Amino acid sequence: MKISVVGTGYVGLVSGVCFSELGNQVICVDKDQRKVDVLNKLQSPIYEPGLTELIEKNYREKRLEFTTDLSYGVKNSDIVIIAVGTPPLPNGEANLLYIEQVATEIATEMNDYKIIMTKSTVPVGTNHRIKEIVSNLTKFPFDVVSVPEFLREGSAVKDTLNPDRIVIGTESEAAMKILTDLHKPLTDNIIVTDIRSAEMIKYASNAFLATKISFINEIANICDKVGADVTKVAEGMGYDKRIGAAFLNAGIGYGGSCFPKDTNALVQIAGNANYDFKLLKSVIEVNQNQRFNIMEKLKASLTTLSGKTVAVWGLAFKPNTDDVRDAPAFEIISELVANGVKVKAFDPIAQENFRTQFNHPDIQWCESPLDAAKDSDAICLLTEWDVFKSINLFEVQNVMANPVLIDGRNVFSKEQISLTKFDYKSIGRPGIKNEKVLVKS
Ligand code: UDX
Repeated sequence: MKISVVGTGYVGLVSGVCFSELGNQVICVDKDQRKVDVLNKLQSPIYEPGLTELIEKNYREKRLEFTTDLSYGVKNSDIVIIAVGTPPLPNGEANLLYIEQVATEIATEMNDYKIIMTKSTVPVGTNHRIKEIVSNLTKFPFDVVSVPEFLREGSAVKDTLNPDRIVIGTESEAAMKILTDLHKPLTDNIIVTDIRSAEMIKYASNAFLATKISFINEIANICDKVGADVTKVAEGMGYDKRIGAAFLNAGIGYGGSCFPKDTNALVQIAGNANYDFKLLKSVIEVNQNQRFNIMEKLKASLTTLSGKTVAVWGLAFKPNTDDVRDAPAFEIISELVANGVKVKAFDPIAQENFRTQFNHPDIQWCESPLDAAKDSDAICLLTEWDVFKSINLFEVQNVMANPVLIDGRNVFSKEQISLTKFDYKSIGRPGIKNEKVLVKS
């Protein structure tokens, strides 16, 4: 099939590249000339495992093109995918300006029947709005279809090529058949529904996953108080198929480009429909507070923060991505420097992205985890990168001024820690600690 994708962010680029990998002819369109130049040099503007290889392969095999020319993309495709951003407005609502602009441009460039397939996460009713915009501007026939995207950053290519399900929201039998054929090579789990339900599935899925995370984080906070181990609790819960083991890792809370934005947007969507989504509001509040849980633990270990040096291991909102959008590291580091702490920060991939958005004279940017740990009074681990998981803890403790390790992602085991001198604190695992060290205050 001939496909154009408007917007080469995470969703658009990965979808476009993966559709070309399936043998379709794909034109990726973006108004950002610099991004298109980077892509035409066969580089990926985002760090995503496996993506660059697929860009190179499909470009060379002439199934993939990158352009700023939306007219060319629309005219040379049967399916036009909208994958532009829906950034939050100050009140949390999704900003639909880019969606509306793109719908207008598509309508004016149409030359034949098109399927307009929305992959951006949009509030219920948006696809009907797109339909209205397009029908006011074109005489050509078209169908609007909602096919929400569920890929995760860091495993975006894998998720797109092996999705748990594909949701197709449409009012058109013809479009349903074409899009079912398009997605058939990916999965048998194709759910066909009306457009509004498809739009809601995306928000409900993200809100539910966010709820799981805030739930387990609250259980972890209680575990800390009553002496239970949240990882064992999660394991014991996870074997129940009705609950499932995924997304029960306690930590410093969720970040990223989706959960914070989409949970706030769903609260707004509900509010606009005169429904007070109390549960989701609490999920958001719990997540916000969880970021500061490790500050309490750090204070308990160091007594006073002012004048101390703290290594921060990990700045990305999760491993295997250079994305720092809504990363807990921003607020945690702000809080540290506000408390008079000198920060030594290290992230294997996201450091540059973080630094361009947040710099401060009290932050020293380091070249390795060991470099950050050197002469520090404590380490706060914020992202569970492999480089931290596999580190030699003896080497780390030996270069530190004080061996204090606050593990915000429950990376290390009791066995690993018990052999070291670390004053170790994690999330919801009060039994896994060492109290051998007396830390100078
Ligand atoms: C998420 C959804 O998973 C995906 O389906 C949707 O399309 C976009 O939003 P993403 O933001 O890439 O994907 O990352 P995800 O792996 O879901 O993690 C989100 C956040 O939750 C991260 O900050 C992660 O650290 C946190 N998290 C995840 C936990 O704290 N505990 C968990 O058990 C799982």
